[in-house]
Amino acid sequence: MPPIAQELVELALHMPGLDAAADALAGAVNGAYDAAGPAKQPLKDALNGTWLGHALHPAITDVPIGAWTAALVLDALGERRGARIAVGVGLLGALGAAATGLTDWTDTYGKPRRLGVVHAALNGAATLLYGASWLARGRAHGTGVALSLLGYGIASVSALYGGTMSLDLQIGVNHANATEPPAEETDVAALADVPDGGMKRVDAGGYPVLLVRRGGDIHAIGAVCAHQGGPLDEGTLEGDVVTCPWHGSRFCVRDGGIVSGPAAYPQPAFRATVLDGRIRVVAVEPK
Ligand code: FES
Repeated sequence: MPPIAQELVELALHMPGLDAAADALAGAVNGAYDAAGPAKQPLKDALNGTWLGHALHPAITDVPIGAWTAALVLDALGERRGARIAVGVGLLGALGAAATGLTDWTDTYGKPRRLGVVHAALNGAATLLYGASWLARGRAHGTGVALSLLGYGIASVSALYGGTMSLDLQIGVNHANATEPPAEETDVAALADVPDGGMKRVDAGGYPVLLVRRGGDIHAIGAVCAHQGGPLDEGTLEGDVVTCPWHGSRFCVRDGGIVSGPAAYPQPAFRATVLDGRIRVVAVEPK
């Protein structure tokens, strides 16, 4: 990271009152979800991107960034009406980005949690400035454009923090794909070493695999949780569903599919066979 970017990150991480602000914001977000009652989990899954098989937040952030960049260009060309529409589209996208981002953020701790508060505060400030710009453009066009420019600058700094959270601190990426499973069928364990009705973590050519045994039947999926890398072998198994011990994502052990989030990516699945008392696994191509 260039020194200026590193300095901006360090500056944000050492702001006073950051943890208190994070606790207050997390309390508000979790309180809102708790108030949703039975709709809480489906709502969270929808905003995490569980239904999509991909984190939703990074896709939605393109809407305000793209629309506000378009507004910048349209302002430069003197296209007042088009610029105001673009500012409005960006505002709608910003609401979606805030809802998805805050939902992802509530399952973070440490540095990502602290940086996320700064990211959210800056995005909130940029959104307010764009809201004021949209209102001002009807009456005082120059003021509206100036507010947009200020908002664009703040959103750009905020994007640096968002990028750091994703690319450096690995929030929102697929942790189950950190290493590649072996292409060949691989011997991983003796059947007798896996407790009947239980789970065991094994190594398949450097890739961690979770084995689940039912008598002579074996199911196998990636052992590292796609969400943030939690150890699924330390989670709980109920029927065909394993629950991650870190944030409670639930996966089907038969095919690695997500039963509920916050994970947005399914677990890699393996076909397991037993031959002469030994278990062999091979990766199954995703559907
Ligand atoms: S690491 Fe977050 S649910 Fe598994």
